[in-house]
Amino acid sequence: MLTTRLTHAFGIEHPVVLAPMDLVSGARLATAVTTAGGLGLIGGGYGDGEWLKREFAAAAGTRVGCGFITWSLARRPELLDIALEHRPAAVMLSFGDPAPFAGRIRAATVPLLCQVHTLDQARQALDAGADVVVAQGGEAGGHGVGTRSTFTLIPDVADLIAARSPDTLLLGAGGVADGRGLAGALALGADGVLVGTRFWATEEAVVSARAHARAVAADGDETIRTSVYDIVRSYDWPVE
Ligand SMILES: Cc1cc2nc3c(=O)[nH]c(=O)nc-3n(C[C@H](O)[C@H](O)[C@H](O)COP(=O)(O)O)c2cc1C
Repeated sequence: MLTTRLTHAFGIEHPVVLAPMDLVSGARLATAVTTAGGLGLIGGGYGDGEWLKREFAAAAGTRVGCGFITWSLARRPELLDIALEHRPAAVMLSFGDPAPFAGRIRAATVPLLCQVHTLDQARQALDAGADVVVAQGGEAGGHGVGTRSTFTLIPDVADLIAARSPDTLLLGAGGVADGRGLAGALALGADGVLVGTRFWATEEAVVSARAHARAVAADGDETIRTSVYDIVRSYDWPVE
């Protein structure tokens, strides 16, 4: 059994957290990850109150948290109340300044995870009082800034945390798909990992069968970075 500060802090068996992938990380996937000994986070994403209530209800009895896209949450701040009413195991904020929401989350004594892509954002997360900083490198699926690799960002953020806020925990995110990636992240100074794409590929994820088949059949050389999904969904990302 691999124990780290993360497994102790959250009372979990494995230092693995499910990324709160918008709509993909529903109750079924989040509870599967928690039940397997990690920590599942429901993907609150852009924000749909009814969906969030339904998924929390479906996960009832299993300890799960949830995550939001911060700039989108700023447009619908009531979604945070819905999440906090369900006593989540954690709330994760990504893509935007966490400060406006951090106070409410911490006042509810819910652990705050902040996902960052740069050292500057890591400083902002520490200023906001994050309990856990998630260092997301450019290998990550979904959105990201894409300028830093996971391999260099984790040790940079680990050094920053050691100097400024040693009790804050650190997760590495981006390109971790198996035990080798987890071991690498721990060696670089993380307390655990946040995994998205690998869990996207599981049957518990809310993904169309066709997309699953295409992705599973593909190899890493076929990776591309594109904003086409945002264009077809008319999402206007302000922070990238
Ligand atoms: C399909 C997909 C959707 C995502 N949606 C979100 C999201 O809504 N909110 C968020 O904070 N991160 C989201 N992410 C990014 C993850 O939080 C995480 O940084 C990433 O999955 C880690 O890299 P990996 O995909 O290589 O494991 C998403 C990732 C994927 C693959």
